Amino acid sequence: MSDLVRFGISLEKELLERFDRHIKGKKYTNRSEAIRDLIRDDLVKREWLEDKEVTGSITLVYNHHKRELTNFLIDIQHDYHTIILSTQHIHLDEDNCLEIIVIKGKPQEIEGLYSKLKSAKGVKHGGLAMTTTGKEIV
Ligand code: NI
Repeated sequence: MSDLVRFGISLEKELLERFDRHIKGKKYTNRSEAIRDLIRDDLVKREWLEDKEVTGSITLVYNHHKRELTNFLIDIQHDYHTIILSTQHIHLDEDNCLEIIVIKGKPQEIEGLYSKLKSAKGVKHGGLAMTTTGKEIV
């Protein structure tokens, strides 16, 4: 278990009241856990900004009847095979597919892959969830 350190924070009463309302809505049971998560979120953002090795997932929704699009998306993924850990394909209905691509690599490469996939003509929606390898986060 990591060493716990207690420290005090001074802030405006109104700001603390707003924070308490916010964390109550997010179902946190105490301020400490909410503040830990804010710090972790900030550290993960820094990892992405400082070009550390990071992880994440890309989601794409598209119509698989557009054959040239399906081939195009596969070609791009082969170009980036070194950073793709897995791909999951879900047939949402007769027309629509949801693809979840899990990646690990440098932020620039991941963002390059994401931009190419998202901007492909026929992709209805694309998302990128940026997270961490967890190595430097406690
Ligand atoms: Ni499908």
